[in-house]
Amino acid sequence: MKKIVIAIDGYSACGKSSTAKRVAAQLNYAYIDTGAMYRAVTYYFLQHFVNPTNPKAVEQALKTIGIEFHYNPKTGENETYLNGLNVEKEIRGMEVSERVSEVSTLPRVRSCMVELQRKMGKKKGVVMDGRDIGTTVFPDAELKIFMTADFNERAARRQQELLEKKQLVALEAVKENLAKRDHIDTTRAESPLRKAEDAYVIDTTHTTMDEQVGMILDMARTTIHQE
Ligand code: DC
Repeated sequence: MKKIVIAIDGYSACGKSSTAKRVAAQLNYAYIDTGAMYRAVTYYFLQHFVNPTNPKAVEQALKTIGIEFHYNPKTGENETYLNGLNVEKEIRGMEVSERVSEVSTLPRVRSCMVELQRKMGKKKGVVMDGRDIGTTVFPDAELKIFMTADFNERAARRQQELLEKKQLVALEAVKENLAKRDHIDTTRAESPLRKAEDAYVIDTTHTTMDEQVGMILDMARTTIHQE
């Protein structure tokens, strides 16, 4: 059967990753979390005191950064590795969340990640989630989804997600971080977050995970059979 690229873009914390992961598992596709890649770069910058405003330091750092995903059979998840080390836990914390949008605005960081993402999706049969997948990384993706949800709902979900990872963060702090990231992600010069013209919008404020996964699977199966 013909394999396709499914691009899932949208705001932070509206359920993109969990939905994308389940869609990929159902179709037996690879799942690529591109936010994790920008988070891994940010984590490296923090660890190595790389100044994002110094182009030479950024260039040097990018040369030494290697990002891979490896499946962990214990958790059933694809986990993020930075230069051979599992950084899945480290990249999800607030410290990285506070800095990741700023690092993601850097054109060199973006071109480097986009190149890697295109390589990862070259063989198709992939569900990729992020902010610019349908617009920049795979503008020819056979199926594009743009996910959105009410701001307060997103904040509550992100706080719960952090709690499940044993990080207690006040709702106000989560809201502040989301608002700041929304602003930077949608207004940056280089491939800002926006809906591709041919993307289907899914508002997840009132849908269950099963419903949103079901909707995308229906669209994916229709697309696969049309191809
Ligand atoms: O999906 P996430 O919240 O883990 O993404 C973290 C940040 O990475 C997000 O605030 C913006 C950036 N990002 C991006 O610029 N482009 C992508 N394709 C994915 C994420």
